[in-house]
Amino acid sequence: MEVEPIRIVAFASGNGSNVRAIYDNIQRGSLSADLVGVISNNSGCGALQFARENSIPALHISLRQFSTAAAYEERLLNVLHERAPDLIVLAGYMKMMPESIVRAFKNRMLNIHPALLPSFGGRGLYGHLVHEAVLDYGCKVSGVTVHLVDAEYDTGPPVLQRCVPVLDDDTPETLASRVLQEEHKIYSDAIQLFAEKRVQISGRSVRICAGSKK
Ligand code: GRF
Repeated sequence: MEVEPIRIVAFASGNGSNVRAIYDNIQRGSLSADLVGVISNNSGCGALQFARENSIPALHISLRQFSTAAAYEERLLNVLHERAPDLIVLAGYMKMMPESIVRAFKNRMLNIHPALLPSFGGRGLYGHLVHEAVLDYGCKVSGVTVHLVDAEYDTGPPVLQRCVPVLDDDTPETLASRVLQEEHKIYSDAIQLFAEKRVQISGRSVRICAGSKK
């Protein structure tokens, strides 16, 4: 079945390996999407550099560039309306998304978190701190959560979750790299479900409808 590509805009602050994985899956034909913009608060980040190298519109937008929060939000909203994404994906975006933007894209904004929420999430739990906390607790599994974004950190309802085993000799680095490999698959899988219009959202209940048989 031909699936109409959905337009996505990615927000990222760091290396951008998730943005890269999404882009690669689009190029490979396994993800039906158009990456129509990458936005970052961090002008020197790998995600923006990758976007520029691949002729994807790349924008540096940071609160610091504006004298008021309202002006910053207006700029974000204008850019987003101009890019007209069906879906916004936060991929290692280290800033809280303003509430006005979350509201404007309700149920159309995803985030990826490198653990099984609601454990090991929330303010202050990001990057390696997540994996350190998982190991300190002695967990036997960790994982990845792709969830809808609401106005808090990591509290929106999950769309997809997958487990990743914790090994006895794991360090935060080895666990992070195993989790990241899963992130690179699950994010495209989640976006593809939106492209196929198979995601039904009602409050905190996110159901994935069966796909049509090929
Ligand atoms: C990922 O682990 C993501 O889950 C977290 O930040 C990391 C970003 O990695 N929020 P990258 O910039 O996509 O390489």
